[in-house]
Amino acid sequence: MATSSAVNLLLRAAVASCHRLPSTFRGVARLGSPGRFFHASAPARLSSEDKITVHFITRDGDKLTAQGKVGDSLLDVVVNNNLDIDGFGACEGTLACSTCHLIFEEDVFKKLDAITDEELDMLDLAYGLTETSRLGCQICLQRSLNNMVVRVPESSADVRQSVDIGKNP
Ligand code: FES
Repeated sequence: MATSSAVNLLLRAAVASCHRLPSTFRGVARLGSPGRFFHASAPARLSSEDKITVHFITRDGDKLTAQGKVGDSLLDVVVNNNLDIDGFGACEGTLACSTCHLIFEEDVFKKLDAITDEELDMLDLAYGLTETSRLGCQICLQRSLNNMVVRVPESSADVRQSVDIGKNP
């Protein structure tokens, strides 16, 4: 159906960055089915200028600290701050690679937005999956996530090319 295809295209284009996705379509994305519309309620007065600090623990155990705006994805934070995380975000947030796999602390994990079926499918292909794993390109910064610590798994894979990226390649 043409409308469904258009929604799919819009979602595909928008998943690269949380804040580029209109709130109406964020609701659709969370449901994971473009056929079932869901209108997400607007977040409580968040300014796009709010800075959120994120601490990344790299494969080598180094701590990289960076900031992003409310609504940025963790992929945006890595890219905008030019963080040196090998292979991270190879598909630019189109849910096609799993190289943005990150591991969250349990209390932070519970605060994250619900996972979509599409993210779940891609996450299943990630190396070193844990119960608190998510894909960084799908995680939008919000105030409650300020100062969170996220761990980069020891290895990851670009499932499009079967390329392994790890501490000891
Ligand atoms: S950047 Fe490829 S799945 Fe997230």
